[in-house]
Amino acid sequence: MTQAQLEQAIDEAARLIASSRHVVALVGAGLSVESGVPTFRGPGGMWTKYGEPDMRGYERFMDDPRKWWEERVSRASTYKELVEALDEAVPNDGHFALRDLEEAGHLKHIITQNIDNLHQIAGSIAITEIHGNRTKLRCLECSQRWDLDGFPLDELPPHCPDCGGVVKGDTVMFGEPIPRDALDECINQTRMCDCMLLVGTSAVVYPAAAFPEDVKRMGGVLIEVNPNETPLTAMCAAVLRAAAGESLPLVVQRVREMMA
Ligand code: APR
Repeated sequence: MTQAQLEQAIDEAARLIASSRHVVALVGAGLSVESGVPTFRGPGGMWTKYGEPDMRGYERFMDDPRKWWEERVSRASTYKELVEALDEAVPNDGHFALRDLEEAGHLKHIITQNIDNLHQIAGSIAITEIHGNRTKLRCLECSQRWDLDGFPLDELPPHCPDCGGVVKGDTVMFGEPIPRDALDECINQTRMCDCMLLVGTSAVVYPAAAFPEDVKRMGGVLIEVNPNETPLTAMCAAVLRAAAGESLPLVVQRVREMMA
C-alpha cells in the first residue's frame, strides 16, 4: 500500500469511527507484536514454529488438574519463548491509541483474543477477554476470577474458597468452552456494534471471527488494521495495510482533527 493510499485509508477509518454510534475493536496477537510478543500464525508465529497444540489441552487438565498445576508451578512450558516475551511485554502505541479512542468516547468496547493484560496496563476499561487473562485464575464451577498474585497455591489443584470448585488459569485452553459470561458480553457488544475495528487478527479462529461477519450482516461497517490480508479484508470499508502501533495513533489524530 502506498503512503498516499494509507493516508486515504486513515482518513476513511477516522470518518467512519467519528460518525459511528457504537464502535467495538476486535483485537488479536498482531496488536502485541510491537510489544515483542510473537503471533501464532504466519511467519515466525508460535504455531508455525512449534505446531498448533491439539484440542485435548482442557481434557488433559480435567483428567489430572494436580499434574497440570505442578507443571505450571515449576514453570515447565513448551512455549518458553512466548512465556518470556509475555513476562517482558509492555503496551505499545497501538494499545494507547485504543485507550485514547475509548477516553474520547468513540470506542465503546474491546473484545480481545489476547491473554497478555496489556490493554489494562495501557488504561483501557471496557474490555472482554474472550480467551481469558494470563494474570488471572478462574473457578470452573462458579466462574469467579482472582488475580494470580496473592492467590494461595499451597494446595494443588487449588479450590474455590466459596463453592469448592477446581481453580485453573483464566486462559482458555484448547478444547475448553469459552466462559459463558465472556461469550455473552461479546454477543451483546456485537449486537450493538455499527463499526468494528479489526486489529491484528488473522480472523480464522471462532467464535471471535464470527463477530465481524455478524456486524456486517446487520448493516455495520468493518475497518481492518493489519500488514497482511485476511479472510475479512474484502468485507472491509477501510483497510490499513500497516502495523497497528504505527497506524492507530494516526487514526486517533485524524478523529481528533475531525471532531475539533
Ligand atoms: N500490527 C497489526 N497486525 C499485525 C502486526 C502488527 N504489527 N503484525 C502481525 N499482524 C497480524 C498478522 O498479519 C496476522 O493476521 O496479526 C495477525 C495475527 O494472527 P494470529 O497469529 O492468527 O493471531 P490471532 O488472530 O490473535 O489468533 C487468534 O488463535 O491460537 C489462537 O488463542 C490463540 O488468541 C489466539 C487465536
